[in-house]
Amino acid sequence: MTNGNMKKMRFYRCPACGNLLFSTDDADVTCCGAKLTNLVMHKPDEENALQIEHSDGEWYITAPHEMHREHYISFVAFLTGDTMIVKKQYPEWGLDVRLPYIRHGMLLWYCTRDGLFYQNI
Ligand SMILES: [Fe+2]
Repeated sequence: MTNGNMKKMRFYRCPACGNLLFSTDDADVTCCGAKLTNLVMHKPDEENALQIEHSDGEWYITAPHEMHREHYISFVAFLTGDTMIVKKQYPEWGLDVRLPYIRHGMLLWYCTRDGLFYQNI
């Protein structure tokens, strides 16, 4: 990660209840009585890749990824400078995210089966 103030952003997911948690630095995070370790970010494989376009002054993001309850992308986050935008996504709906067109940010997204992915844009 090379994104200024947000480079220590940490993401956690509770395996018991599915809750997603964020912290801006290392932290002792617990949920449902268990300590969580932060998710490792991966470069996307083909199945978990996003399609990212610049259109009408926005980043427009879609994906052919599955969106079933057992396997879907549950959020997309955009980190840029001192700002993080988080867009929750829901199963049974196609992935469809519009973000302000800010260059030099980092996209992060979480697949409930395959983990946390990142891409600089
Ligand atoms: Fe996936």
